[in-house]
Amino acid sequence: MEIGQVIGATTLRGFRFVIKEGMEKNVKRGEFVSVKEAVTGNEIIGIIKEITISNELLPDEFGRDLRMGDIVLTEGEYPVPTVKILGYEDVNGLELPRHGIKPGSSVELVSDEVLKRILKQDDLKAACVGTVSTRENVPVYVSINDIISRHCAILAMTGSGKSYTVGVLIEELLKKKGSLVVFDPHGEYKNIKVEGSNTVVYGVKGETRLKIETASLRTGDFANLIPDLTDPQKDLLEETVNLASKFYEKYDLDIVKNILSLVYDGKEGKEPVTDTLPENTIKELAKKVSLSTIGALIRRMDRLGRMGVFEMQGTPLEEIIKVNQLTVIDLSDSDERLSETIIAAIARKIFDARKLYVKDGEGNIKIPTFIIVEEAHNFAPRSTEERKILSRGILKKIAREGRKFGIGLCIVSQRPSKLDSDILSQCNTQIIMKIVNPADQEYIRQSVESVTEDIVKDLPALARGEAIISGSAVRLSIPVKIRTRTTTIGGEDIDIVGEWTKNSKN
Ligand SMILES: Nc1ncnc2c1ncn2[C@@H]1O[C@H](COP(=O)(O)OP(=O)(O)OP(=O)(O)O)[C@@H](O)[C@H]1O
Ligand SMILES: [Mg+2]
Repeated sequence: MEIGQVIGATTLRGFRFVIKEGMEKNVKRGEFVSVKEAVTGNEIIGIIKEITISNELLPDEFGRDLRMGDIVLTEGEYPVPTVKILGYEDVNGLELPRHGIKPGSSVELVSDEVLKRILKQDDLKAACVGTVSTRENVPVYVSINDIISRHCAILAMTGSGKSYTVGVLIEELLKKKGSLVVFDPHGEYKNIKVEGSNTVVYGVKGETRLKIETASLRTGDFANLIPDLTDPQKDLLEETVNLASKFYEKYDLDIVKNILSLVYDGKEGKEPVTDTLPENTIKELAKKVSLSTIGALIRRMDRLGRMGVFEMQGTPLEEIIKVNQLTVIDLSDSDERLSETIIAAIARKIFDARKLYVKDGEGNIKIPTFIIVEEAHNFAPRSTEERKILSRGILKKIAREGRKFGIGLCIVSQRPSKLDSDILSQCNTQIIMKIVNPADQEYIRQSVESVTEDIVKDLPALARGEAIISGSAVRLSIPVKIRTRTTTIGGEDIDIVGEWTKNSKN
């Protein structure tokens, strides 16, 4: 269907056109149009980015004291849409034109069928996450292999629909029998249940709590969990943990505490009674520290023990990484230091297990997995932050090397400018929703190759639930309306006024 004619000078990146009478309603931002390339006759497809309306009676420099009411303005008025060229269809998708477009060429509306064909991906290996914003009949697919092996970032300001989109992605991946682990600081995902697949939720309290193998903690992890350690306490802790890992194959906090008690006895001049540890080492250690340091550390170990998370045996990884299973690590009852430690410990375990399996064929973590980290700016922040965040190192490693071992990473954040830029730039697919903050926009543009100036400009205008998906998993970077979820949603907006009204009646 012809909707207009190219006017003015054209380039290989874009052109402008005037609208044919009666076609105004078809011409809107985000709509897809096509023109024929001059030399090749190729059908070049573009997207309307801007519509400028000028009136020859009212040029820019005119009209300071103008009273509009008295004038008929439609005479001499031209809406002029500006089109960005996406390319012409080729065997490998869209190719940018090499020749040019002649002024005067006819501009047509691209049919749904053509758009469907361009965006279509292999149903078995792709997830349908929504439809083209301007065409509700045209589904948009993302390649699952790409999203997982080359990572993905979901970025937007708060309340724009990131977690909702993660939910859609989870639904799609479970349909493909995926193995997914989500670190969930707000407890938003525990109600997701897709028919025919399992959802397993671990918290940090009660029956279903997650257990972390104490021996898998590094001394840095301990120090991070007990923030206000003095230097002598830190040194003693390090030596004690080293002793535990040297003389015990597996240990828990009780064993660490027992070693400390032995040191305490040694300090008090008693003979340390132990079959496992060399008495001399204990005595040497006792010489270096004060009673109060040992006592304080024992009390801290007690406090750590009461959390009930650190045990001799951790939750087996085979329970966490399972085919056709969403594992939610609900961190809503955990403070940020404990959350960091849990994310670090589990992510390391997954990495080591997958590396062992892929490189040496050993162990029983035989399937690839996808790790989703919500509020990623807290767990993978850029290094300018004042405190070292434990989880960042391993998340960075997964972003860099995960592809080889079949570990995908999805980071979700409302503060992109606070994210580690290495991790962000390793995420080859971006699902970006409304972002107004210029610092966040600029940071994304700089860190992410596929996010151009042009995409950044579109971000503030996106509606809730609308995203621009760019990068390797999609055929085109265009605005997408994320589809409706089929599972229960968590983290809904609270109807503030409604709550007040309801409560005032009680
Ligand atoms: N595609 C969509 N269709 C329908 N409703 C949506 C869609 N996307 C988001 N919403 C609604 O918008 C609200 C906010 O969405 P969501 O919780 O996903 O935002 P968020 O970006 O994760 O926010 P935060 O940064 O605070 O975590 C929710 O009530 C959700 O149901
Ligand atoms: Mg959210």
